[in-house]
Amino acid sequence: MSAQAPIKRLTAADIAARKGGEPIVSLTAYDTPTARILDDYCDFLLVGDSVGMVVHGLPSTVGVTLEMMIMHGQAVMRGTQSAMVVVDMPFGSYEKSPEQAFENAARVLQETGAQAIKIESGTYAAETVAFLVERGIPVMGHVGLRPQAVNVTGGFRAKGKNTQEWASVLAEAQATADAGAFAIVVEGVAEDLAKEITGSIAVPTIGIGASSVCDGQILVTQDMLGLFDWTPKFVKRYGDMKKDIKTAVSDYATEVRERRFPSAAQVYSLKPKLAENG
Ligand code: KIV
Repeated sequence: MSAQAPIKRLTAADIAARKGGEPIVSLTAYDTPTARILDDYCDFLLVGDSVGMVVHGLPSTVGVTLEMMIMHGQAVMRGTQSAMVVVDMPFGSYEKSPEQAFENAARVLQETGAQAIKIESGTYAAETVAFLVERGIPVMGHVGLRPQAVNVTGGFRAKGKNTQEWASVLAEAQATADAGAFAIVVEGVAEDLAKEITGSIAVPTIGIGASSVCDGQILVTQDMLGLFDWTPKFVKRYGDMKKDIKTAVSDYATEVRERRFPSAAQVYSLKPKLAENG
């Protein structure tokens, strides 16, 4: 019997080759059924540590664990065939040393089957990016607004609205690209700075709150589907999921209370023969 044909997915090299070309489309995913829907439309899916806030109700991404990321990574892999899957390394799993990062990133790739990991890459992380890439782990960087640093920066604040902030974000992006990252998420930066970053590094920039000058875009899926009352300025709502869920659940509750659900269509009955025989 021949072995099962390998699933052909986009790779880190495919994404890197799109620099300056056709825009890269990406969304976050955390579960199998959603990943199945997104797979047809996205070049890569990010199992973002935003899962902590979006799914688990945490106040920030700082409380997310490696086990959570692995579990959600496995779920997303089960739901995808063509999109590349990138898993976020959570806070505390990679910052201490390149060795710590390698151990945990290898675990993520081995236990989920995902193609790459993402780290929030301040300039200090360049050594880690190079260490991982040299050892066979594709790395996506993440610069600008870095949510895991929220306790130091004091909040989710966009960067680069004044030019004094530009040098540090540019340095993060340059160091991450030079260290071998195949793409870099640029989050929450002023358009002019995003343009400067995108023009000065050799790998694709994936913008979130960084304007259309980036080589690709990513959004948190539940934000763009309208699950929450509040969405950040940079999110466009392409759906009204909260309203749709409320309508469906309200209809269900009414029908249960009025004994209209379940109706004959949803009920199992005795087969006629069995009924005759008692
Ligand atoms: O965790 C996440 O969802 C992210 C995206 C916002 C890029 O890092």
